Amino acid sequence: MSKTFKKGKTIVKALENVSFKVRGGQIYGILGPNGSGKSTLIRIISTLLIPDTGSVKVFGFDAIKDHLKVREFINRVSAEASFFKKLSAIENLIFTAGIYGIPRRIAKEKIYEISQKLGLDEKRLNEPLENFSRGMQQKVALIRAFLTQPKLLLLDEPTTGLDPRAKLEVQRFIANLRENGTTILLTTHDMVEAEKLCDELAVIYKGRIVVSGKPQELKNMVKDHRKNVTLEDVFLYFTGYKMEEAELEELIH
Ligand SMILES: Nc1ncnc2c1ncn2[C@@H]1O[C@H](COP(=O)(O)OP(=O)(O)OP(=O)(O)O)[C@@H](O)[C@H]1O
Ligand SMILES: [Mg+2]
Repeated sequence: MSKTFKKGKTIVKALENVSFKVRGGQIYGILGPNGSGKSTLIRIISTLLIPDTGSVKVFGFDAIKDHLKVREFINRVSAEASFFKKLSAIENLIFTAGIYGIPRRIAKEKIYEISQKLGLDEKRLNEPLENFSRGMQQKVALIRAFLTQPKLLLLDEPTTGLDPRAKLEVQRFIANLRENGTTILLTTHDMVEAEKLCDELAVIYKGRIVVSGKPQELKNMVKDHRKNVTLEDVFLYFTGYKMEEAELEELIH
């Protein structure tokens, strides 16, 4: 698929001929620096945006023609999650559960169970969401997404901005979801996270997928005389930049 945006008079090619396949039950990673097109890709798959060209199939259904069907299977968690900020976390979550027809009692049980797994203090669930830190709100967004047991979970930078402990908790939670059979597509710019969580991944740079495969396969491609090849080396090899440099460059332009 391809997608361009107009920014004033200039045209931004957010995605250019991006193509990949996610096998059911795996965690597939989209690894790329700021501005590389990750969120655009996630928005298209979650049926919020329409690509200029190309198509997306989710469990055999066309994300454009059959967007209502596709929405039944998916859920998206992103940094711009919208909540009723004056209401408590639990009120927000029970509200969502209600929309999906989940009875209050069952929803509550599930909310407390997931909160515990994510290291979110149960007592604080009664506080208004506006009192929550970014990391805590991110966790509530994850609980909300998982309440509905999506078959495909789209996670747009689920751990960006979290403190190290929260990051580990969220990563452990994501890894557990795979064990339960959920298919996960996640974006990240964290190489360590990509390596740890992803069964397969695509490196995206300036709207193009420059390479994709299993982490080990990617590392084998750039293996030289050194022993400890990392995904950082993979990124450098295929883009000509270190991830930090690529992010800095995006910031300047
Ligand atoms: N609605 C929009 N209007 C104009 N340009 C956009 C729009 N959405 C995205 N872009 C541009 O498309 C490119 C890709 O943006 P996108 O948000 O997909 O990147 P990203 O990889 O998610 O970045 P980040 O890591 O910062 O979240 C960027 O150049 C961005 O400025
Ligand atoms: Mg983004």
